Amino acid sequence: MAAFPLAHVIESQQFDRDLLDLVFQTADTLKADLSGPRRFSKALNGKIMASLFYEPSTRTRFSFESAMLRLGGTVITTENAREFSSAAKGESLADSTRIMNGYADVIVMRHNEAGSAARAAEISGIPVINAGDGAGQHPTQALLDMYTIADAFSGITGLKIAMVGDLRYGRTVRSLSYLLTKYEDTEIIFVSPPVCKMEGDIKAYLDKYNVPWHEETDLDSIVPEVDCIYMTRIQKERFHDPEDYRIAAGKYILTQERANRMKPEAIIMHPLPRVDEIPKSVDDNPRARYFEQAQNGLYIRMALLYLLLNKDDGGPVR
Ligand code: CP
Repeated sequence: MAAFPLAHVIESQQFDRDLLDLVFQTADTLKADLSGPRRFSKALNGKIMASLFYEPSTRTRFSFESAMLRLGGTVITTENAREFSSAAKGESLADSTRIMNGYADVIVMRHNEAGSAARAAEISGIPVINAGDGAGQHPTQALLDMYTIADAFSGITGLKIAMVGDLRYGRTVRSLSYLLTKYEDTEIIFVSPPVCKMEGDIKAYLDKYNVPWHEETDLDSIVPEVDCIYMTRIQKERFHDPEDYRIAAGKYILTQERANRMKPEAIIMHPLPRVDEIPKSVDDNPRARYFEQAQNGLYIRMALLYLLLNKDDGGPVR
């Protein structure tokens, strides 16, 4: 098996099927090890992860930090880099990245600007992992999303997936769309208010890879026919026009009644955090997978850190 070929994790398009399988197999192994022999508890001994978060996060930052610690590495962190790093004094991202190269072995970065992780990677000699860049991409979220889907359906072929909510500014749905092109017979339905429709670059990419998609505004009409509903939050902080936000907010709620009209084997996903788009009453619905999905973030991020920092091992852990 070839060594992990990526120097950085910046966008979903970097992953082909072989690479996805490698990440998922490694995640399976590391997940099993956590409740077993703990053969990998010192795998990243001596390695340091810098988590540089210029935007808020619960799941991504804590799961990355937990992943590093569970593999025996250590973490240096700023959870509010815009205020508590020297970015507040005007330091450029390039300078901050160069400095972190001297202190850490891997940088996990969340930033408010699309393209920021790619810019950091251009000048970084250590791996940069994109933990979300504005309305750009969130590739590690997409990996854990695919891992969750693969687990639910014992494979990912012939699935019809509805993405619902803020598709214009939602980086998770953009990254997931890219990954879905790697699987056969996938069909995507984009359900959104007109003010936050999926952008044309993603639609063009799906066309290029012959993935059928269409747009819908009526959530009720698609509920019974899909295998997965991927709900998203209407992201108030990304709207430039408050009136557009007012139009979009609260439009799509996956109520218990709607959830019960889904196919019995269908699943409900959400990258979280949620506001009101999935009521708490749905949490006990057997189709709800969003907490399991967040937990899978730990295993996927352990796998990525292991693969990026253990290249000399020449392959996946078994
Ligand atoms: N899904 C996700 O990125 O969550 P956080 O913003 O809490 O990291």
